[in-house]
Parts: sequence; C-alpha cells; structure tokens
Amino acid sequence: MILHDSFEINENGRLSIAGHDAVDLAAKFGTPAFIIDEEKIRSVCRKYREAFSELFGGESRPVYAGKALCFTDLYRVMREEKMAADCVSSGELATALKAGFPMRDVFFHGNNKTDDDIRYAISSGVGYFVADGEEELIAIDREAKNAGITQKILLRITPGIDPHTHKKIITGNVDSKFGSAISTGRASEITALAMSLGNIELSGFHCHVGSQIFEPDPFCDAAAIMMKFIAEMKKEHGYAGTILNLGGGFGVRYTEDDPIISYRDNIKAIASTVNEAAKRFLIDPPTVLMEPGRSIVAAAGATLYTVGSVKEIPGFRNYVSIDGGMTDNPRYTLYGSKYTVINASRASLPADFEITLAGRCCESGDLIAEGVRIAKPERGDVIAVLVTGAYNYSMASNYNRVPRPPVIMIGKNGPRVAVRRETREDITALDE
Ligand SMILES: Cc1ncc(COP(=O)(O)O)c(C=O)c1O
Repeated sequence: MILHDSFEINENGRLSIAGHDAVDLAAKFGTPAFIIDEEKIRSVCRKYREAFSELFGGESRPVYAGKALCFTDLYRVMREEKMAADCVSSGELATALKAGFPMRDVFFHGNNKTDDDIRYAISSGVGYFVADGEEELIAIDREAKNAGITQKILLRITPGIDPHTHKKIITGNVDSKFGSAISTGRASEITALAMSLGNIELSGFHCHVGSQIFEPDPFCDAAAIMMKFIAEMKKEHGYAGTILNLGGGFGVRYTEDDPIISYRDNIKAIASTVNEAAKRFLIDPPTVLMEPGRSIVAAAGATLYTVGSVKEIPGFRNYVSIDGGMTDNPRYTLYGSKYTVINASRASLPADFEITLAGRCCESGDLIAEGVRIAKPERGDVIAVLVTGAYNYSMASNYNRVPRPPVIMIGKNGPRVAVRRETREDITALDE
C-alpha cells in the first residue's frame, strides 16, 4: 500500500489503482486522466454516516461538499450512499439535479448568490440556503415570497477560529469574506433580521473553520463557541432552531509526512464537546451536520500523465515534463501543496532520481511538485500523482486552451468514463 489502500505496486512492478494496472489504464483511456476509486469513496461515506448516527444520533449526518469533486456520476454515488450535499453554485446545483439527487437534502452555499442563483435554487426545491449576509437574506425572502414558499436557511457565522492552516484557505476567521462575526455583534443582528423575515425559516447556524485540519481541537473550539452563541440567541431573540452545521475541513494524507488520523475519533471529540456544551448552556443538543469534501474524495483519486521529456540541468535540477499540469492541478501553483509522485511504469525500482514535475503550460510556475524522488523516467513512462481526488478536477481550467482530462471511475464492474475527455471542438464550442 502507498499512502492509502487504493494504491499498490503489482506483480509487474507497476502502480495499481483500485486493483487496476495504472499503465494499462493510461493506455486504455489516454493521459492525462483522473482515476477515481468509487468503492473507496463509498466506504468513506459509510464510515462518516455510521459515525454521525452513532455519535450524534437523531437527524445528524454528513453533507458532502461537492466543491471538492463534482460531476453527475458522483452525485449518483452520493445519493446511493444517502449523503446530503453542499452546493456552492448553480452549476453544482444543476449537476445534483441531473443526477436525480434529492434537492431537499441540498445546502446551497456561497458568499454572493445572485438573484438568478437564488431563483434557480428555489425553483429546484433546494432544502436549505446557507445565507451569508443581510442583502442575501432580503433577496432570499423576496424570491421565496414570489415563489409562494417559506425557505429554510442556516446563517453563516464566523466563530473566529484560526486553525493554523494555509492562509489562503482559512475561512472561519473574523477577517473573512464569509458570514457574520460573533465577536463584532453582527451575527446577533443578522439572526434578528432572519427571524423577522416572513418567508424565511431560520433552521440553525453554520460555520467553517478551514481546511486540511488534522486535529479535532479547532472543530471542538468552534463547536463550543457556536453552542454558546445558540444559547445567547435563545436568550436574546427567543431563537429555537435545531441545526448546527460545523462545515468541512478534515485533513488528508498527501505525503508520508502527513499524519494518519481517525475521522471517527475527531467526530467523537466534537460530539462530546457539543453534548457537554448543551448541558452547560441548558439547551437541547442540536442536529449536527458537517461538510467533508476533501476527506471523502481526495484519497480515492490519482492523476496519470505521460512523460514527454527529462531535462537534466547539472548543478540545478531535473525537469520531468508531463502532458498535464496546472490546468488539471493548480494546487501547487496556488498553495505550494505537496503531493506524492510515482513513476507508475517503474514503481518497484528505487525512487532515487530527484525531479521537478513540470506541466506543459506556457508559464514557468506551472509545476506539480519540486524536490520529489521517483525512479528515473523516460519519454513515454506513466507518472502518477496520488491523492488528487479533491480540488483537482473541480479546479481544472482551460488555461492555454488545454482540454480538461476525463474522469475515470473504477467501480465494482471495472473502470468507466464518468466525464469524457474534452476535445479541441469543446474548446472552441462557445466561441461565436
Ligand atoms: C463552507 C465549506 N464547507 C465545506 C468545505 C469543504 O472542506 P474540505 O474539503 O476541506 O472538507 C469548504 C471548503 O472550503 C467550505 O468552504
């Protein structure tokens, strides 16, 4: 096993993904290609669901954050695994709808939903809006009135937790474009506003402290702050909502340096914080939701590339250029995110050749990894970047008019194309 149970070295000395030879997959589906182990995703969903029903009970459950990875086939999997879904755009909503996902189980996020988004979400029958602020509340109320419904919402609150992850992915701080801060008094004002609007039903509160968090403490701190806030809102405004959504953010092992964690243990710690706070503040334990994205899909994915060239620059470094790059995985360019790279064609040979893995965009910053060691490759070798299930395909772009790779799902009946490869015709399809 390499990092996660989907990745092994097979008897031919090559990488296998979910029991399928990576070089054969590359030959069959072409490169670059995202390969996703469907059974792995299903098993993580089940673990989350079991942990929620055992440790929180009642209606508490995990909500899959589709921003991590989103396409129709995946929402079908999520529907079968009885997950709820967090959508952040009308495009994600449309994907859930296409998959026949029950829209009452959808939470619609985003810090700036347009009127058109709001109308679309209401007409789609979205269960809950996670409302970000005053203007949006008023717009949701107006559109709900026009549609003749009462729209359930959660209010996005910033509890002021710094989870010590990368700055660009911290969203639970007071200085944030998301939500309303408790410490400034804004969260209380917005609660009063939500309660006063005739076509809105305030069902509870939401917060999200950050991403790639390994320890339970930031979640427990957020839970304690949010429970205190709920008690205060009960006292101040007679608020009687039932849902506490603690957002996403559990960390994922990308390299050997990352820890192995138990999501169940973290959920257990959060559950005891919530129950203890309920007793202390004399309020009922809420229905607890969390929105894991990365931790559900990241470890199920790998990206396969073909080597085009190996450029050794003595005294400097060795560039291995592949047929993808920042257009399918912008995370190294954006955040310096670290990945495990393997020469899938020579996986059993010593990883003794230090490389910079370079993409093919006209951009010197187009890199996937630096200072990683793999078995020395040649043109035509298949390179795998592991743990790319989250925030790769969903963040892919057409920069340099590079077509996006396909997504190949490996399910019980073997590999299938879940999203086809973009073509040059797709690239020019919108041009008038
Ligand atoms: C509101 C919200 N929920 C859930 C998530 C998913 O987080 P992760 O993929 O780290 O679990 C995010 C990610 O940024 C988010 O902003």
